[in-house]
Amino acid sequence: MRNITGTPVENDDFFDRPRDLDRLQRDLANGENLLLTAPRRVGKTSLVLRLCELERQAGRAAVYMNVEGCHDELAFAEKIVDTLNGNGLHPELLGRISLVFRRVREAFRGMKMGAAGVDMEMGAAEDPDHSTLGRTLESIFRKIESEENPVLLAIDEMPELLLALGKQDRGAERISHLLHWLRSLRQTYRKHVRWIFLGSIGLDSFVDDRQLGKTINDLTSVSLEALSTGEADAFLTRLAEGNGLALGVDERAGIVRRLGWPLPHHLQMVIHSLIDRGVQTVDGPALDAAFEDMLKPTNLSQFDTWRQRLVEQFGKSDADAARDILRHLCQHPEGRGRDQILNALMSTRPSADPDAVEDQLSRLLQVLLRDGYLLERHGSYAFRSFLLREYWHRREVR
Ligand SMILES: Nc1ncnc2c1ncn2[C@@H]1O[C@H](COP(=O)(O)OP(=O)(O)O)[C@@H](O)[C@H]1O
Ligand SMILES: [Mg+2]
Repeated sequence: MRNITGTPVENDDFFDRPRDLDRLQRDLANGENLLLTAPRRVGKTSLVLRLCELERQAGRAAVYMNVEGCHDELAFAEKIVDTLNGNGLHPELLGRISLVFRRVREAFRGMKMGAAGVDMEMGAAEDPDHSTLGRTLESIFRKIESEENPVLLAIDEMPELLLALGKQDRGAERISHLLHWLRSLRQTYRKHVRWIFLGSIGLDSFVDDRQLGKTINDLTSVSLEALSTGEADAFLTRLAEGNGLALGVDERAGIVRRLGWPLPHHLQMVIHSLIDRGVQTVDGPALDAAFEDMLKPTNLSQFDTWRQRLVEQFGKSDADAARDILRHLCQHPEGRGRDQILNALMSTRPSADPDAVEDQLSRLLQVLLRDGYLLERHGSYAFRSFLLREYWHRREVR
């Protein structure tokens, strides 16, 4: 098992999560379509890549695609076609469709995609050349449905695509269209086509914010947690073995205790930091030094996505308020009550309407809990990860 910090892991680098995989496979076998929700860096992409691998080993087709780089409907459609093609599915049909898409792309060269042409309608595509994008794409699903072999489509980072779409002409309408179209696809072709959606921004919160909840209410929500203490211990044992580190049981427990929240990514980072120091046998002082290294100014950027995401995900007012909440909480490891956080928010917004700020606080706490920033215990809110709390303190307070 190699020490990988950042990119999704596969094959021997993947620490097995049999319980989570079993549950996903069971739900899929029951004909459900899934929405995998979890905070970032919990290991969603890696888990779903393994799921696809297991499906293929069982003789079924499974394709994974990250749609983050797709900025419009056509790019999304092309991604589906290219990925299915790359997996050797229905080459003849897909080849024809690719050609059609290429012509559409040519026709749009230099123009803004938007009003014309890129229509996500459902219906038969007798003549793909003169049909809508949606109908053309649908012909693939009709083909899959008519044959015996089921296909799993794993779609990663869908909200990123929707966010990009939202910034373009008629953005809101196009988001709604695309989501409705996907929903009707799932409902029309439900025997042999399975879907799993995942991503670092929750599709659920994205659609809720836009009153589009009903476009995904057919999906079964499955959550993925960080590792249990036992799993974290086994994970560290394997990582240490794979990287020539002598790491005893007390030191393993010490790492988990210091992290507060055993995210696979953070466990990998600790090991990385130890290896970087040239440590061979890990003891208390070596651990202290490794944690200190991780929080050095030059290394802080590896946590920056946690802060950047707030800006990407929220409008200005919410992003500012979320930042203030977290700046307050990183100074209170023992946690703070809602009223105390509200006071802190009001102190920097003296002329704001307290009721409005309270509403905003409720909403943001909800999201920060769900996205793994915070933990609530008996009405007290605190940073979930001690490491992240320390990072926040260094970035925002001193
Ligand atoms: N099962 C796993 N085995 C080993 N490392 C993992 C595993 N899951 C996650 N990681 C670690 O976390 C990082 C992020 O994983 P990724 O699957 O991209 O998470 P997510 O998609 O939830 O953001 C990886 O680079 C790796 O360091
Ligand atoms: Mg991911």
